[in-house]
Amino acid sequence: MPLAGSRDWLRWPHDPDRPRFAYGADYNPEQWPREVWEEDLRLMRRAGVNIVTLGVFSWSRLQPGPDTWDFGWLDELMDRLYGNGIAVDLATATASPPAWLTTAHPEVLPVTRTGETVWPGARQHWRPTSPVFRRYALELAGALAGRYGGHPALAAWHVSNELGCHNFYDYSDDAAAAFRAWLRDRYGGLDGLNHAWGTDFWSQRYTGWDQILPPRLAASHANPTQQLDFTRFSSDALRDHLRAEREVLRRAAPGIPVTTNFMVMGDLAGMNYADWAHEVDFVSNDHYVQPGPGGADELSFSANLTGGLARGRPWYLMEHSTGAVNWRRVNPPKAPGQLARDSLLHVAHGADAVCFFQWRQSAAGAEKYHSAMLPHAGPDSPVFRDVTELGRVLAEDLAEVAGTWRLPARAALVFDWESSWAVRRDSLPSSLLDAHREALDWYTAFLDAGVRVDVLPTDAAWEGYDLVVAPLLHVLPGPTAERLHGYVAGGGHLVTTYFSGIVDENDHIHPGGHPGPLRDLLGLRVDEFAPLPEGTCVVLDDGGIGTVWSDRITVTAPGTEVWARYADGDLAGGAAVTRRSVPGGGSACYVSTRLDGGHRTALLERLLAGAGIGGELPEELRGRVELAVRAGEGAEYHFLASRTDEPVKIGHLPGVPLTGTAGRGSAGRGGDAGVLPPRGIAVRRVPPREAGRRPAAGPPRASS
Ligand code: GLA
Repeated sequence: MPLAGSRDWLRWPHDPDRPRFAYGADYNPEQWPREVWEEDLRLMRRAGVNIVTLGVFSWSRLQPGPDTWDFGWLDELMDRLYGNGIAVDLATATASPPAWLTTAHPEVLPVTRTGETVWPGARQHWRPTSPVFRRYALELAGALAGRYGGHPALAAWHVSNELGCHNFYDYSDDAAAAFRAWLRDRYGGLDGLNHAWGTDFWSQRYTGWDQILPPRLAASHANPTQQLDFTRFSSDALRDHLRAEREVLRRAAPGIPVTTNFMVMGDLAGMNYADWAHEVDFVSNDHYVQPGPGGADELSFSANLTGGLARGRPWYLMEHSTGAVNWRRVNPPKAPGQLARDSLLHVAHGADAVCFFQWRQSAAGAEKYHSAMLPHAGPDSPVFRDVTELGRVLAEDLAEVAGTWRLPARAALVFDWESSWAVRRDSLPSSLLDAHREALDWYTAFLDAGVRVDVLPTDAAWEGYDLVVAPLLHVLPGPTAERLHGYVAGGGHLVTTYFSGIVDENDHIHPGGHPGPLRDLLGLRVDEFAPLPEGTCVVLDDGGIGTVWSDRITVTAPGTEVWARYADGDLAGGAAVTRRSVPGGGSACYVSTRLDGGHRTALLERLLAGAGIGGELPEELRGRVELAVRAGEGAEYHFLASRTDEPVKIGHLPGVPLTGTAGRGSAGRGGDAGVLPPRGIAVRRVPPREAGRRPAAGPPRASS
């Protein structure tokens, strides 16, 4: 339970009860002389900035030596920000340890799988399990909490930064000791561990805890369950660090919410955010859109999943970019209109904070070519004009949207963290498996079909949805299998795919033929996997093309309909896509290959029709426009985002236009122009369809 007084959203210093969007950036004033601070504050006000994240990389300035502290500059900035009406998300500054610490204590430095030390010189060079690092980090967090816990500017605590971005896997001796303790906790005794890890294979049986190691460089494939457990452990070790800092902050300042920035983006990192979401008072996320086609769909997927982690509560977009990043092979700027579109697409999926990395573009260091709100070109620049306009849109045009929640869809797409880890290990039937890509494929099919879907973690309450797509649900523990059975028996429509339901939580094959606990539900048995080599495909009898995977299937239940068969290759004539209806109206569909986009969408449309789910957009807009809906007490807010390079007419859609973007910046107060330009996004107020339809689950609340 949260401590008395802890909050689940920002504690605004001024006019605290007024809902509003947070707008701002990481602010790194220590990179600049004092004279620049005055200009920063003036331009922040001009841009509508009302919050900054301060101190993320300030450890060496705050604590120049083990026993010396320098808070003067931060005192001054906290006061001046407050005086300018700007709130502070104050970082614990523990993300990057200073040189004096790593010189005195090289034992805090992480070690790679091959035994190399990760030296200082960049950032995040610390072992999540180092007791020495933990001691210093908590001392710093405690000093900040004690000094600023009562400061009026303080709106939230920001633990560390992007935990696990560079130090997720550490194979050091500290990690080995902590891994053993974690395993003892999980398995109790060595018998349990030997069973779970299947150690009679290759003579791996352990007879003492000191024999157990992280999966360091080995002669061949490391034990798969050892690998899976080490990933679980690595996620938990960083989560424990989050908890430890959080508790220090809570003790000193119980009324201030605690967050940390997740990285739900791209192919997702190792951290199990489904689990971590329970540890923070509100969810925060960093997202950097991929340039090129598909980038906006991926952004939408990530924002949607972040909304799922937040259980429908407001969440905080902690970082995204105004333009180029500095860490891809080639780093293009954003196209005209994209800055606003990217930001508002996050808002569409429940973000109540729109923040960037960073406020002022650096002059030195590894990120000097990374864009910022205030670019090298200065305030008289297209980027700063866009930034200022976006600040206005959030504060004025969309003021009434702040504090509303995302309206639940009727379909859910379940993303399972453990399965995503398990299918990218070695020693599998194929190294081309990618659970994130498969989920994104299905998400794109929903966008193409013009039907809203909520992306949810496995532990969310998806039973209330009419259709659930759970792709590549490879790791299927008994309780989740029971949930799936109960869902279908209760009338739900389930869709799952190849390589789902194959192993239990110990990564042991479910007995009796694949897919173990789903065989009866699906009415089939997979007799043999037939993964497809890279660059090859298989044709289906409805013209569909499958890549990555195929299965040799025996249909076992008379009621199982075969919707598509393999038309060529060794599996010709065999079932490829099936659907079994169960008494009570539910159904279970199996898709045994990675379907091409067009056929996947056609299949989804058929499944949606079977579940009685229709599109909410007129036919001619489906696929060309993404619709996302937020709802408040008396209104719905329809976010309409273009997905094409052609202008799209939306003037005939219902609702009062609140804002619309066109080219650079916005079409201005009062509404869209009735046409969505490429990369355009418009927001309309529409009367509510169902009063009070709120997200099924409550907010994430940090456990204490
Ligand atoms: C991450 C970090 C930031 C910055 C950005 C650059 O998100 O948290 O400090 O390095 O990347 O894209």
